[in-house]
Amino acid sequence: MLNIYQKFGGTVFKIEEFDIKLDTEVIGRNFIYSDEVESTNSVLLNSKEFNQHGTVLLGEFQTKGRGRKERSWVSNAGQNLTFSILIKDDLKEHKINLVNLGSSLVVAQALENLFQLNIELKWPNDVLVEKKKIAGILLESTSKGSKINRVVIGIGINVNQPNFPGKFDIQPTSVRKEFKELVSRERLLSEILNLFEDMLETWKKEPKKILNDWRNRCKMIGERIKIIDGEKQKSGVFNDIDEDGFLVLKIADKLEKIHFGDVSLR
Ligand code: BTN
Repeated sequence: MLNIYQKFGGTVFKIEEFDIKLDTEVIGRNFIYSDEVESTNSVLLNSKEFNQHGTVLLGEFQTKGRGRKERSWVSNAGQNLTFSILIKDDLKEHKINLVNLGSSLVVAQALENLFQLNIELKWPNDVLVEKKKIAGILLESTSKGSKINRVVIGIGINVNQPNFPGKFDIQPTSVRKEFKELVSRERLLSEILNLFEDMLETWKKEPKKILNDWRNRCKMIGERIKIIDGEKQKSGVFNDIDEDGFLVLKIADKLEKIHFGDVSLR
């Protein structure tokens, strides 16, 4: 019988190959690999066992992988990366939503560093190549009383998947499709975690840099856009992102802050 990797023609994740390139102090130093998991986000959000700041859980196959807005995230075992990072430090002082933007920047930077892909970011945190989606991020948190006590950043990256049958809001692509070669998932994960640790430092010390770097990678600012949030729909000009990373929409002469929604060009 085929195992979960062979089923899709994928490869077994080689932890030593990942570990040798990991250059962090805390992020990923507690690394958990699971063959099959419901959702790496759900586990890290709710687990009493995995409670350490910087813990990374890589799930080779997710039975209930989740995307934004209660969508599902489906990903082949052995070909892609689906993982979550647990953050427990300094949560009160800093703006959590900037970690959301910062995480998409980290993925963009890693894909550029290793594969010279031309990455664009779409608010709030889609990672695109030539308007196609190569990665998505789902940030979730839990609170105790009024205090956030856990933040989990879940990242799904299409790495070596050759094709994407089905219908999608945004057409998916993978590193393999864009770079035209099979690539090392281990090397990509270590690069992301290395950059992620640096990003957390920037978040604490120089949050404006995250906002500016994100602005530079978003090609939609200044464009007429449509925002859909469930039944609600709004149109206007994408004016900017504010200091918390929320979208500022200009409708006629008024500025409106948008916290949620799917953005598309009008
Ligand atoms: C999106 O684009 O809608 C976000 C997708 C996030 C998917 C990742 S895969 C790892 C982590 N676990 C989940 O259940 N979801 C995130």
